[in-house]
Amino acid sequence: MKDPIMNFDLKSLDLAQAAAHKGDALLVLVPEGFKPGQDELGRLIASAVKSGDLQTKAGKLLMSYQVPGVACTRLVLAGCDEGSPRQVRQAVAAAVGALRSSPCRKLVVCLSALAHDDAVRMAVQAAADASYVYTTTKSKPEPRTLEQVTIGVADAALSRPAFERAVAAVRGVEYAKEWANRPGNHATPTMLADAARRLAKAPHLQCTVMGPKQVAKLGMGAFMAVAQGSHEELRFIELRYDGGAKGDAPTVLIGKGISFDSGGISIKPAAEMDEMKFDMCGAASVLGVFRALAELKPAINVVGLIASCENLPDGKAVKPGDVVTSMNGQTIEILNTDAEGRLVLCDALTYAERLKPKAVVDIATLTGACVIALGGVRSGMFSSHDELAAALLAAGESAQDLCWRMPLDDEYGEGLKTHFADVANVGGRPGGAITAAKFLQRFADKFPWAHLDIAGTAWKGGAAKGATGRPVPLLLDFLLAGGGGGAATSVAKKAPARARRKA
Ligand code: BES
Ligand code: MN
Ligand code: ZN
Repeated sequence: MKDPIMNFDLKSLDLAQAAAHKGDALLVLVPEGFKPGQDELGRLIASAVKSGDLQTKAGKLLMSYQVPGVACTRLVLAGCDEGSPRQVRQAVAAAVGALRSSPCRKLVVCLSALAHDDAVRMAVQAAADASYVYTTTKSKPEPRTLEQVTIGVADAALSRPAFERAVAAVRGVEYAKEWANRPGNHATPTMLADAARRLAKAPHLQCTVMGPKQVAKLGMGAFMAVAQGSHEELRFIELRYDGGAKGDAPTVLIGKGISFDSGGISIKPAAEMDEMKFDMCGAASVLGVFRALAELKPAINVVGLIASCENLPDGKAVKPGDVVTSMNGQTIEILNTDAEGRLVLCDALTYAERLKPKAVVDIATLTGACVIALGGVRSGMFSSHDELAAALLAAGESAQDLCWRMPLDDEYGEGLKTHFADVANVGGRPGGAITAAKFLQRFADKFPWAHLDIAGTAWKGGAAKGATGRPVPLLLDFLLAGGGGGAATSVAKKAPARARRKA
C-alpha cells in the first residue's frame, strides 16, 4: 500500500508569524475570551468577535479571501469555545470540511491561543480525518488535495512530543482505514497477512503467519469451523513489536479479522450485507497500531494476533448444531453460524496464553447488539480486571476515542448453556453484546483481559460510508501509558523471579 501522502510539520508561530506564513489557507482557532496582541490579524479577529460576525462556539466558522496582511489566500477563523480537546477537534473538522469545497493543498493551523498538547493532537487527527479519501479500488482516483499541514503553536519544542505522537497515530489510523475500507476481494486473509509481513520489515518488528495446516496442528477447531465454508484460506497472524526490555511481558492485542461475514448458513439479510467487509476492523486496528509503533519506536513489548478468514455458506460450511472443539479443549455448539467472531477469537485467546502476557485486549466488530446499546459514539468495553478497565477508559478519554465499560455478571452467561457441548455460541437476543463477552471470558481466565466491541464505532454507514480507524488512537494511548496499568508492573516484577528460579 502507498503510504499516506499527507505531511505535517510543527512550527513556533504567533498570530503575526502565522499571518506571514505562506499557504493556501490559514486556519486560526479562536477560543472564548480571545485576547488580541498588537498584531493586525489579532485586532481583526477581536473585532470579528466583538461584532458577532465570528462566534467562538466550537464549529462556527468565518471564511474570507485575500485578507490584507495575511499571506495565505484564504483565512478561516474557527470558534473553539474553551479549546477542550473535543472542541478543538470539532473546530478543525468543520474548517477542513469547509475548505474541501475548493482545492487547498497547504494549510496552516494556528493554535497559539491554545498552547497545550491536546490541541495539537486533536488538530492533527481532525485535519487528517476530514481530508481522508479512499482511492485504492477507483480507476481514476481523485487523490486527497490537502498535502501539507503546518501546525503553529506558541512553543514548538514543548509541543514536539505530542506532535510526533499525533502524526504516528494518524499514520496508524489511516493504515487501519485503508485495510478496513478495501472490499472483501481486495483484503482477503492472505492479503492481510502480506500487509502484516510488509509492516514487519521495520526495526523491532517481526511477523509469523500460519495457514490451515499449522492452525489445525494447534487444534484451533473453533477458528477452523468458521473458515471451512470458504475457498479462501484462513490466516493466523502474529506480529511482534519488541521495543522494550527482553523478557518484559508483552501486551497482547487480538483483532477479529473476518474479511467478509455473510453469516454463513445462518445467512444475513441482503440489505447492507456489503458492510460486512468491515468485519475485519479489529484486525485493521491491530495493523494500524503496529504501523504507528514502527514510527514511534517506544520502549514497550507488544504482540498482535489476528485470526482472519471469511464466513460463507457452502456445502462444506459449518451447520447450526455442529459441535466443535476449541484449542483449550472446550467443546462449542455452534447454534448460529453468524456468531462467528467469538469462535475465531476464543482460539486466539487460548493461543495468547503462551505469550505470558501482562494483559490481553481483543478488538472486534462483534455484535449488532453493541450498536444498539452504545451507537457510534463509544466502543463497548468489557473487563473482569478493574485496573485494565480503568486504563482503557482513560486512554479513550485522552485520545478522544471513547469507550464505555459494560457489565460481565455471570447471569448474562446463562443463555450459553446447552445439553450438547460445554457451551453454545449464542444465548438469547437480550444483552447480546454482553453474552458475546461472557463467551469470550471463558477463554480468558489466565491473564488480565479486556474486550472492545467496536461494531458501532469502527465504521460509518450511509452517505459517509467508510472506516473510522477507531480504536487505533485509544489503543496507542493505552500502550504508551503502560499497556495494562497496575497489572503491568505486578506481572513484570514477577517475571525476573521466575527467570532466576529457572537459572
Ligand atoms: N459481525 C457481526 C456483528 C455486526 C453486525 C457488527 C452488524 C456490526 C453490524 C457478527 O459476526 C454477528 O453477526 N453477530 C450476530 C450475533 C448473533 C447471531 C448472536 C449479531 O450481532 O446479530
Ligand atoms: Mn456474524
Ligand atoms: Zn462478524
